[in-house]
Amino acid sequence: MYTSTLFFSLLSLLYPSQCLSTTRLPITNVTSIPNLAENIAVRSNSHLLITSVTTPSIYTLDPSFPNTTTAQFPPIPGANGLGGITELRPDLFVVAAGLWNTTARRAAHGSAALWYVDFRNSSSTNSTGPLITYLASIPNAIAVNGITTAPGSDSIVLLAESAAGLIYAVDTAAKPPLVKVAVKSEYFAPEDAEVNPASLGINGIKSWSCEGEGDEETVGYVYFTGSASRVFGRVGMGRGAVATGPVEILANLTGDGTGDPASRPDDFALDTKGRAWVSLPRSSIVLVQQQRSNTSTSSRNSYSDAGPSWSVQTVANRTDTLQDPTSVAVGRGRWKDRLFVTTFRAEVSAGVLTFVGTIVGVDAGSYMK
Ligand SMILES: *[C@@H]1O[C@H](CO)[C@@H](O)[C@H](O)[C@H]1NC(C)=O
Ligand SMILES: *[C@@H]1O[C@H](CO)[C@@H](O)[C@H](O)[C@H]1NC(C)=O
Ligand SMILES: *[C@@H]1O[C@H](CO)[C@@H](O)[C@H](O)[C@H]1NC(C)=O
Ligand SMILES: *[C@@H]1O[C@H](CO)[C@@H](O)[C@H](O)[C@H]1NC(C)=O
Ligand SMILES: *[C@@H]1O[C@H](CO)[C@@H](O)[C@H](O)[C@H]1NC(C)=O
Ligand SMILES: *[C@@H]1O[C@H](CO)[C@@H](O)[C@H](O)[C@H]1NC(C)=O
Ligand SMILES: *[C@@H]1O[C@H](CO)[C@@H](O)[C@H](O)[C@H]1NC(C)=O
Ligand SMILES: *[C@@H]1O[C@H](CO)[C@@H](O)[C@H](O)[C@H]1NC(C)=O
Repeated sequence: MYTSTLFFSLLSLLYPSQCLSTTRLPITNVTSIPNLAENIAVRSNSHLLITSVTTPSIYTLDPSFPNTTTAQFPPIPGANGLGGITELRPDLFVVAAGLWNTTARRAAHGSAALWYVDFRNSSSTNSTGPLITYLASIPNAIAVNGITTAPGSDSIVLLAESAAGLIYAVDTAAKPPLVKVAVKSEYFAPEDAEVNPASLGINGIKSWSCEGEGDEETVGYVYFTGSASRVFGRVGMGRGAVATGPVEILANLTGDGTGDPASRPDDFALDTKGRAWVSLPRSSIVLVQQQRSNTSTSSRNSYSDAGPSWSVQTVANRTDTLQDPTSVAVGRGRWKDRLFVTTFRAEVSAGVLTFVGTIVGVDAGSYMK
């Protein structure tokens, strides 16, 4: 979810950045969409799926043919915009939909819903697209942001609710699907509504399975960014999306240190090594990773360390091509070394406000060896 408010975006139109900061990783433009790019996922055939809170139709793009093949799937009914998207099982995605107010950064009460986006029966070259079917309504949610599949599960979807400051678990195997609050934390909360009614708390969430490395109870972790709390953290989870410990803060992401209210961590991607690539407005991608330990006890089972030490490194910071990043995905297949980043821009032309969502590719090959 874009963290810079319209107000700050309009400010940046009036006062464009004076200096172009250096970049460390090469960045290329992939494409642009005439909407507010919100979230991004990658299919097994390496095609990108891009959601927007200002259109209910998912964009799709083959990064091998940038800027020529961007298409939109049919709209999700009953929605004007989409949020998080996650792959629940191979080629079966779940997307969050709602009737969004982009100024309030909240959806209408009762409009939040999950939909299946099912590619299992559509060939990669078949332009008929996925089967889109209704999954569940999330009655109390008004700001479903990042979504992910619970660690060790192929049927539970976790939703970050940025206004209520909690994580919902939706058991899609139950009939009807069962919605419950899985985790609530002060680090997930937005700012005081009287100070900033459009504030977002928990923003991105991504799961990591321990695959035998956790303790008996913990099958994995759910990592998160807190936009209001400016943190990156995680919570251990057992089967059935039950938290097995407290919310741990692994890194403070305080932005550029200038106190710019727009510099708050947005969505992120986990790579296959468990490192997090976090979008950090105004113009950065930061890599958050666990420090490699040289002690034999902790390298065997690093996840049970009491106090793991994590590092934060700015790997890209460009005010020209990376202005206001909103979400990151790691490519798949031939694009596995590339980060795909959505960025957000608001433009006023002849008094009409329009959004531009630019998708850029960040070549992270030097980190992926
Ligand atoms: C990428 O797009 C940005 C604006 O969206 C533009 O300033 C920049 O020159 C473009 N870069 C390339 C290599 O086309
Ligand atoms: C995409 O193509 C159009 C038309 O050729 C061009 O105007 C636009 O700048 C291109 N966008 C990017 C991001 O390369
Ligand atoms: C959207 O939210 C803003 C800020 O809360 C409010 O002023 C506006 O009336 C809302 N728009 C609609 C269409 O409800
Ligand atoms: C897959 O598509 C074929 C051809 O349209 C159809 O006959 C079949 O029922 C579909 N299978 C599923 C599981 O949707
Ligand atoms: C595309 O999907 C349609 C409908 O499911 C099916 O009839 C057709 O054979 C498919 N085409 C290809 C090339 O897979
Ligand atoms: C984050 O900042 C708080 C407040 O300054 C500090 O107490 C905490 O130790 C920091 N956490 C990390 C992981 O650096
Ligand atoms: C990005 O560059 C700007 C301009 O040089 C700087 O003020 C800011 O601190 C940098 N941000 C990060 C996260 O490194
Ligand atoms: C192992 O880590 C300790 C503490 O961080 C450090 O003092 C020591 O030099 C390291 N040893 C090696 C071989 O890197």
